[in-house]
Amino acid sequence: MSNYHIKGLEEYFQVYRKSVNQPEQFWGEIAEENFLWRKRWDKVLKWDFEKPEIKWFEGAQLNITENCLDRHLYASADKTAIIFEPNDPLEPAQHITYQELQERVCKFSNVLQDQGIKRGDRVCIYLSMIPELAIAMLACARVGAVHSVVFAGFSSTAIRSRINDANCKMVITSDGSYRGNKTIDLKGIVDVALEDTPSIETVLVVKRIKSDIHMRPNRDKWLEPLMEEASTTFTPEIMNAEDPLFVLYTSGSTGQPKGMLHTTAGYMVYAAYTFKNVFQYNQPDVYWCSADVGWITGHSYIIYGPLLNGATTLLFEGVPNFPDYSRFWDVIDKHKVNQFYTAPTAIRALAKENLSYVENHDLSSLKVLGTVGEPINEEAWHWYNDNIGKNNCPVVDTWFQTENGGIMISPIPFATPTIPTFATLPLPGIQPALMDENGNELLGNQVSGRLCIRFPWPGMARTIYGDHKRFKDTYFSTFKNMYFTGDGALRDATGYYRITGRVDDVIIVSGHNLGTAPIEDVINEHPAVAESAIVGFPHDIKGNSLYGFVILKESGEQRDPQNLRKEINQLISERIGPIAKMEKIQFTNGLPKTRSGKIMRRILRKIAAGEINSLGDSSTLLNPEVVQEIIDTRL
Ligand code: PRX
Repeated sequence: MSNYHIKGLEEYFQVYRKSVNQPEQFWGEIAEENFLWRKRWDKVLKWDFEKPEIKWFEGAQLNITENCLDRHLYASADKTAIIFEPNDPLEPAQHITYQELQERVCKFSNVLQDQGIKRGDRVCIYLSMIPELAIAMLACARVGAVHSVVFAGFSSTAIRSRINDANCKMVITSDGSYRGNKTIDLKGIVDVALEDTPSIETVLVVKRIKSDIHMRPNRDKWLEPLMEEASTTFTPEIMNAEDPLFVLYTSGSTGQPKGMLHTTAGYMVYAAYTFKNVFQYNQPDVYWCSADVGWITGHSYIIYGPLLNGATTLLFEGVPNFPDYSRFWDVIDKHKVNQFYTAPTAIRALAKENLSYVENHDLSSLKVLGTVGEPINEEAWHWYNDNIGKNNCPVVDTWFQTENGGIMISPIPFATPTIPTFATLPLPGIQPALMDENGNELLGNQVSGRLCIRFPWPGMARTIYGDHKRFKDTYFSTFKNMYFTGDGALRDATGYYRITGRVDDVIIVSGHNLGTAPIEDVINEHPAVAESAIVGFPHDIKGNSLYGFVILKESGEQRDPQNLRKEINQLISERIGPIAKMEKIQFTNGLPKTRSGKIMRRILRKIAAGEINSLGDSSTLLNPEVVQEIIDTRL
């Protein structure tokens, strides 16, 4: 039996039991047998959820890029590490071997070093899905710098706040990017962001769309000529196990996005282990995750997890509907993809289109299908299983969070029997607990409550960059000695878990987490707005859409409501990004409030969803009369 690669249900249960009964021995063996260490650890785990302080493999030394790249060169230098499939299907795909990737990472590391980047410095990466994105991240890791990838759909304001929060020294971007039939001026967006970012010294610019852009003297440098001159060797910086590897921002229900800090050794072990088991990757499979590298799914399951396992990982620059709705199936057919991992929102969007888009393609290479990011509804699950997997590929509904580093609850294909909408069982090392609102644990099966994790796992975030108190308050203060996920879940009669959705004010729109308070803050900045409240309501494709209830100032009431709606959404687009725009904006004279002045969102959610006959008790409201008015003027 191998702890590292689980192949059957019985084996899963045995391995799981060991991971709970002897966690240090379990993770110690996996770490020892499957990775390259420059120095062994002194202690596998030290932890205290009160502080909270979590340390895995303390005393060990390593560089994660030696594990992702160098160690594969002995046996598989010519194996394809990354298949790059460009936005335009007429542009040839690129096959980058492990040897070539290692050399390009070394060159980039030399460039970073020449530009003054040292161990511990933070580097912001704002790139679309091109090979340089992967190479830049790995180069940061090789020199010991901390990457902070910002999704290339975010606005200038969002980039600026992330750069300033982490005091980044450098930005890596491109002259623009392709997205379907559009081009996006990434460098222009960065230029605006950098109007107020005192820590930035250098901007490295990748050439992608060959557009004529402004380069600011002394600050902006084209990457290409620097790469041409750079050496193809670079001795990796030897890092300590708990040295930071990256910061990745995720929305909270209030305040600024949280920079989740992931460290080196634990993250490496967990990303590699979960990739191997959840996708049952075997050589020489071709694996494709369609997420963006700007999210945790992309970090762990496009870059680190696959490369740590010597896999071939496909990097797709495009979108599912360009040139038409057959693009995903075209890519799977063209590259004979064996494992495909995507989001429910993409599945729902593609399921709406004519089946002929699917039928014209040979999808027989597929072995495993995955989904992630939000609950998958039964209809989408069946469409995926029937039409893409042809009832022949296990569908793994994988649950995790940016904070977790890697997949936490998921079937193991060919081992765990799947049931639509259930993420099924915890992976080895993961000890879930369901809690009621009073802080009591719900024991046994057929219970539902708030999902917590009672024991550390190697991939968990160690802190929020620059704000350890917020880390403690958000995740470790709601329930004693538990990590609180913010999700609700139920455990059925057989012990399977189904994730039911957020229990806080985070709304998941097309798989993107959006906190309500930060969006409301932006809306309230509009000069015509007095107050606002946002809730989610069900949407066929996006899962949820945003519904805003807005109280106008007197001056706003004179304005054309359609124009005002446009202006408010424009402001959100500029400050946060287009993903946070509201689908509906209802102007109202009041918002239902409790006697202590809190907005009663439960009622607004029901109204937005059209469930006006089950609003529940509103007698405790300060202003019950506004409820009827809001119902009457509902959009
Ligand atoms: O609510 C859960 C939902 O996505 C949240 C985490 O979002 P993020 O940090 O952006 O990471 C997304 C990709 C890992 C969770 O708190 N979520 C994620 N996967 C699932 C899910 N909800 C239901 N089922 C899933 N499989």
